[in-house]
Amino acid sequence: MNKTKKHTITAALPYANGALHLGHLAGAYLPADIYARFLRLQGKDVIFVCGSDEHGAAITIRAKKEGKTPQEIIDKYHTINKKSFEDLGISFDMYHRTSDPLHHKTAQDFFLKLVENGDEFEEKESEQYFDEEYQQFLADRYIIGTCPTCGHEEAYGDQCESCGATLSPMELVNPRSTMSGKTPVLRTTKHWYFKLDKHGEWLKTWLQEGKKDGKQLHDPKDWKKHVLGQCSSWLEEGLLPRAITRDLDWGIKVPLEGADGKVLYVWFDAPIGYISATKQWAEDNSTDEMPIDWKDYWQGDNAELTHFIGKDNIVFHCIVFPAMLSAHGDYVLPTNVPANQFLNLEGKKFSKSKGWVIEQHQYLEEFKDFPNKEDALRYALIRTLPETKDGDFKWDEFVALHDNELVANLGNFINRVVSLTHKYYDGRVPAVVEGMIQGMDETADAVTVDTILQKVAHKMEELERYILKFEFKNAIQTVMDIASMGNIILQRNEPWKLWKESPDSPIVANSMYVSLQIAAALSVVTAPFLPFTSHKLRTLLSLKLLVGEDFGATREHLMTGKPLMPQGHIINEPELLFAKINDRKDKSRLELIERQKVQLEELKQQAAVANKKAEPIKEICTFDDFTKIDLRVGTIVAAQKVKKSKKLLQLTIDLGFEKRTVVSGIALHYSAEEVIGQQVTLVANLAPRKMMGIDSEGMVLMAEDKDGKLVFVNPAIATSNGITVQ
Ligand code: 2FM
Ligand code: ZN
Repeated sequence: MNKTKKHTITAALPYANGALHLGHLAGAYLPADIYARFLRLQGKDVIFVCGSDEHGAAITIRAKKEGKTPQEIIDKYHTINKKSFEDLGISFDMYHRTSDPLHHKTAQDFFLKLVENGDEFEEKESEQYFDEEYQQFLADRYIIGTCPTCGHEEAYGDQCESCGATLSPMELVNPRSTMSGKTPVLRTTKHWYFKLDKHGEWLKTWLQEGKKDGKQLHDPKDWKKHVLGQCSSWLEEGLLPRAITRDLDWGIKVPLEGADGKVLYVWFDAPIGYISATKQWAEDNSTDEMPIDWKDYWQGDNAELTHFIGKDNIVFHCIVFPAMLSAHGDYVLPTNVPANQFLNLEGKKFSKSKGWVIEQHQYLEEFKDFPNKEDALRYALIRTLPETKDGDFKWDEFVALHDNELVANLGNFINRVVSLTHKYYDGRVPAVVEGMIQGMDETADAVTVDTILQKVAHKMEELERYILKFEFKNAIQTVMDIASMGNIILQRNEPWKLWKESPDSPIVANSMYVSLQIAAALSVVTAPFLPFTSHKLRTLLSLKLLVGEDFGATREHLMTGKPLMPQGHIINEPELLFAKINDRKDKSRLELIERQKVQLEELKQQAAVANKKAEPIKEICTFDDFTKIDLRVGTIVAAQKVKKSKKLLQLTIDLGFEKRTVVSGIALHYSAEEVIGQQVTLVANLAPRKMMGIDSEGMVLMAEDKDGKLVFVNPAIATSNGITVQ
C-alpha cells in the first residue's frame, strides 16, 4: 500500500457567528467526511481539517446584534458547531479556530513571505466610507443602501441579498452606516492589494488543462463542470488586484510598520486556517518516536490537497487561494475542489432570519430519542446531496428514505440474516457445502457461492470508482444495491422453507453463508457513509472495528470475493439497526416528524401574513356620503352556492319586515351551511344588481381581518331584527 501520499482534506471554515444547518452539512461537511473516512479505510495517510472562521464583519455584526463582544460570540458558536459536528460523526482530525495565536502567526508569516517575495502586493490609497460618529472606517458589510440593480433598500456594501448582485459600497444609492445609521463620509486610507491580475494567465492554464509550469498536476475532466464554469467566467471578466487588508480592530494585525489599526482581510486569513489546523494537529499528535511534519501535507510532490466547499466559496478556493499559494511558492495547489450546489428546505432556501432552517444541534436535540438519528439524517442528506444541482430536503422524503430503504432494505436484511443464523446454527457461520443456489437473476441457472461473492466484489469496485469521482449519491446507491442483493438471495432461496423439511440442504447452508458474507461486506461499505450503523453492524457480527491498516486485508478479501467471516465464526444476538418511523404500534417517531412539518407550515403562514400588504385605505368619504347608506340588521335564513361560481353565495336575509335575496362574494371563506342563522348588517338601499343571473338586493357588510379573512360586521344584537344601526 502506498503510504507515502498525504491526503489533505479541508472543509470550508464556517463563520463562528451562528449555528450550522443541514444546508451547510450537505454542502461541504458530509461529503468531505465520506471522502476522508473512505480514504482512511483504504489505509491512506489522511488529514481532515476544519475549524471556525472567527474574523471579519460577520462576527462583529453578530456581536453588535446580540449585545456581546466578538470573543463571546466566537466562543459560543465555536462550541456549538464543534459539538454538533462531533455528534453527527464528522470525523475531523482537527477542528481549529482562526482566533488561535498559532493561526495569527501562520497568517502573518504567510503575508510577510508574500511581502518579501516582492511584486505580490501594491500599497494603494483610496477613498473609503468612514463613520464620523463611531470614528471608524466601514467594512463593506457595515454599509447598507439601495441596490443599483434591483432597488432593494437594504443591500449590503458587498452584495445585494435580494437579487444576488455583487456590489462595492460605492455603487450603493443612499449609503448608510449600520453603526450610526448616518450617511458615511469618504476618507482616504491605505491598503495592501494582492495583485491577483498577474496570476490570471497561469490560473487559466491550470484550471483548463490541469498544468502549471509545464507539469501535469491534475486532469480537469475530474473536476465538476459547474466549478470550472464559475472559474471561467471570472477569468474571462479579468482579474483585478484585491485589497487584502481592512481598517478594523477585530482580526489579525497587519505585521508591518505603519499599519496600525489595520488587519488582514478575513478571506486572506481564513484559507490559511487550513494550514494552521494541520500544524496544530501535527503538534498535538507528534511523539519523539513518530514526529509529524505538517509540511508533508502541504508541500512537496506527495501532498494531495482537496477542498470541500459550497458553491459560494468557489472563487476563493479555485482562484484567490491558489494564487496566494503559488505566490508564496512552497505549497501545492488543490488537486480538486469538488464544490456542491445548495440544498433547499422544502423547496425554499434555508434562511436563519426567517427561521426557515434546521440547525444541526437543533436536530440532534429534537431527535435525541430517535434511534440511529445521526445516520438517519446522514442517509437522507446523502441521497439528496446537491452534487451537480441544487437539492431539496423534505420531511416526507426523510421518512420514505428511512422506512423504505434503511429499514426495509438494509435493516430488514441484516435482521433476517442474524436471526436465522441464530435459529439454524446457534449464531455460527455455516460451512459451504457442495451445491448451487439461486442467484439474483431469475432467468439464469443456479449459481455457486463464489459467483455471488464475485458480484459483491464488482459492486465494491463500482463503489470505489464513484467515491473517487465524488459521486456520493451514486456510491450510496451501490451500497444499497449490495443490501438488495442479500435480500434477493434470501427471497429466492427461501432457506426458512427448506430448513423445516431438509435442514441439511446445500441451499440452506449456502444461501445463509453467502448472506452472512454480504452482511459483513455491508459492515464495511456503509462505514464512510453511515459510520454509526457500520459500527453497530460490526459489533453485531462480532467483527473487529475497522481501522486503516487492518482494512487492507478486508479490502483485499472484498475485492477478490474472499469471505470476510470464516466458517464457525460466532455472531452476536439479533438487535435492530433501525426503528421504522411509520410504525402503527409506536407513533412517537411519526409524531416527531409531523411536529417538524407543522413548525414549517406555521412559518409559511406567518410569512404569508407578513408579505400581505394591507389594502390602501380608500379616499375620504364625507359625512353626507356616509349618511346616504341605510344599514339594517338581518338574519340569513337560507343560503346556497351560486352555480358555476366559486366565490358567490346566494343568501336570503330576513330583515324582520321583509326578506331580501342578496348575492355575496364570501363562498371562499364560508360554506352555505355555516352562514345560515348568521346575523348580518345589510346595506339595504344599495341599488339592485344582477349577478350570475340573480337580482341582488343589497350587500352584506364584511370586513377583512389582518390575515385577509373576511369576517361579518356583526351587530351582535341577537333579538331585534330590522333595527337601523347608526
Ligand atoms: O463562507 C464562509 O462561511 C466562510 N467562512 C468560508 C471560509 S472557507 C476558508 F477559506 F476557510
Ligand atoms: Zn439587488
